[in-house]
Amino acid sequence: MKKSKVYFVLAVVLIFNFSLFADEGMWIPSLLSKYNEEDMIKKGLKISAEDIYSINHSSLKDAIVLFGRGCTAEVISEKGLILTNHHCGYGQIQAHSSVEHDYLTNGYWASSMQEELVNPGLSVKFLIRMEDVTDIVLKDVTKTMSESERSSMIRKASSKLINEATSATNYIATVKPLYYGNQYFIYVMQEFKDIRFVGAPPSAIGKFGGDTDNWMWPRHTGDFSLFRIYSAPDGSPAKFSKDNIPLKAEKHLKISLKGVKKNDFTMVYGYPYTTQEYLPSYAVEMIAKYDRPVRVSLRNKRLEIMAGEMKKDAKVRIQYSSKYAGVANGWKKWQGVLKGLDRIDAIEKKKQLEKEFTEWAKSNPERMKEYGNVLPEFEKVYKELTPLKNWTTYFFESVWGIEIVRFAANFRGLSNLDKNSTDELVNTEIERLRKTASRFYKDYNSSIDKKIFYSMVSMFYNNIEADEYPPMILSIQNKFDGDIEKYSNFVFEESFMTSQQKLNDFLDSYKASKNKKITNDPVFMLMTDFISYYRSNYAKQLQELENKKDKLMRDYMRGLMEMQKDKLFYPDANATMRLTYGKVDTYEPKDAITYTYFTTLKGIMEKDDPNVYDYDVPEKLKELYENKDYGKYAEDGKMHICFLASNHTTGGNSGSPVLNAYGHLIGLNFDRNWEGTMSDIMYDPKMCRNISLDIRYFLFIVDKFAGAGHLVEEMDLVE
Ligand code: ARG
Ligand code: GLU
Repeated sequence: MKKSKVYFVLAVVLIFNFSLFADEGMWIPSLLSKYNEEDMIKKGLKISAEDIYSINHSSLKDAIVLFGRGCTAEVISEKGLILTNHHCGYGQIQAHSSVEHDYLTNGYWASSMQEELVNPGLSVKFLIRMEDVTDIVLKDVTKTMSESERSSMIRKASSKLINEATSATNYIATVKPLYYGNQYFIYVMQEFKDIRFVGAPPSAIGKFGGDTDNWMWPRHTGDFSLFRIYSAPDGSPAKFSKDNIPLKAEKHLKISLKGVKKNDFTMVYGYPYTTQEYLPSYAVEMIAKYDRPVRVSLRNKRLEIMAGEMKKDAKVRIQYSSKYAGVANGWKKWQGVLKGLDRIDAIEKKKQLEKEFTEWAKSNPERMKEYGNVLPEFEKVYKELTPLKNWTTYFFESVWGIEIVRFAANFRGLSNLDKNSTDELVNTEIERLRKTASRFYKDYNSSIDKKIFYSMVSMFYNNIEADEYPPMILSIQNKFDGDIEKYSNFVFEESFMTSQQKLNDFLDSYKASKNKKITNDPVFMLMTDFISYYRSNYAKQLQELENKKDKLMRDYMRGLMEMQKDKLFYPDANATMRLTYGKVDTYEPKDAITYTYFTTLKGIMEKDDPNVYDYDVPEKLKELYENKDYGKYAEDGKMHICFLASNHTTGGNSGSPVLNAYGHLIGLNFDRNWEGTMSDIMYDPKMCRNISLDIRYFLFIVDKFAGAGHLVEEMDLVE
């Protein structure tokens, strides 16, 4: 065979294989039977699409909830017990913790329902149904409308649909765009607001490996926590009340003790938050060359300061653990994303696709009219957008990263009341502020914040051109001789917000006639100064560009779908319920290294280091390991901890159930591998893996480690 022919055959085989094994895609549960069922069965699924999602009878979807603001959880007993990640319940666990009752360090297990702890503000939502409402939503929308006319049409039609779907029910609903506004779906949900904390392992298990191991494989984190949904006595959603009862759940997941083998079919059900798979190259360029590098460099500094202080003091460690984890999580992920995009040559690949798109559009005058401008327009928009975004990213990651500056925003209400306002209004506002303040100061350390203040203001000052300084930053030059330390000292000295004592004194003697005292406060001034500078110099332009982008994205998406008629497209994630499927699999992170797909307790013992907080293995766990006291949860005498699979997941899939071919719970999704984090922008089947807790480790910890066997009794195990 001639060489070129060999290459041709090879190329065909490669392309064919790629589509055969690509586990990319976050699919719409209600459309599985139409688009995915056949493929899923071919890959090993043993139940039907109807078993996964149905509106006529109970299905797996009835056991999946949106947990809090952005995680997933699943019902695992008929008494409303739900399972999610430790890092999803982290804020709650932390809120219940103090130096005396340190549930972060020691874990917590309610020994009866009376000991389950109330969590104000936490809710879960069940999906009742989702439905394609594109025709209704876009009925009065025309091609010639402006973007704002279009949105207001869509808003009107949506709110009518929402009213119809929810009136005379206790449901809530939203209408959301898919494929960038080429389709619309309504999501009807039921929200429960009495959610109690049942149990969590110590951080040394639930957060084992901490930020060092975060986003990495091999992984040994027991990242789970347990909550329970409570309802009114009649089963309906209700706010917290002592009379509420554990939810009589319609559906709960069965838990499999059988474990996983390489190539086993798996699926993940949940609420992925955002992906951006269809961005043009210009957008990826902006992200890779400007946005993420700036964010990473600013966070480097913030994290360094926090970590230094947390190491020195147990109280500070508890106060800042949740904040630190939040800042560190994005920071570490973005570094993986940058490497990943570079490794797979994402920008070049996007450019190739764009070339094809341009050719395709050119080949027909109708198309040329519809799509010929899309890419050149994109290029223009991103050229304008990049410098604007640079300023806003700097602002949000630097000055807005200072805790006291964000806190100051709470005082806008009070500052707007003056001597003409009624006492009642003023007093209500003061009371509100006292509450907000007591939550804020519980976890506030002004000496950390002052250090952060100094370094964030410095970085803004040094990296942004002077003609883009808001007035307060300019004033550092003339009033403080450009000495930022002097400025920081002044601010922390003068502001009434920098300690709880000062704030209390301030509120105790507050008079509405003195509202200038707020507007003249240096922290408040810095905050309002940035916001108004942003509003007058960036907001309008940004909004216009965003509108242009929205329309271009909508057209580009539709064009891509027309161009690749035979390809099955999934809509980018947008915090709506999705199902993704793949298989248990290994990967090769680097030359000559292959990672196996599971980890065991032995690995925890290997990482043990009492001197490092993240690796300080609890004595009890060591004992269980020494005695191989694993009960029925071991496999071949080994305790499995985590496993890898090729499911396409993202943020929001934390706490999502990982299900086997029969729809039984085999794992709890909690992370991705670092080398695969670019999957939010471009998925690579060779490198992208989701990381799950092996469900048997969860059971082992609850049963053997915590001695909370009564909880396991509630569950439905398949042996
Ligand atoms: N990387 C996981 C996710 O994106 C877990 C984050 C929490 N853990 C941590 N060490 N910060 O959310
Ligand atoms: N830990 C992530 C979350 O909070 C999930 C990991 C991911 O982004 O894939 O949702």
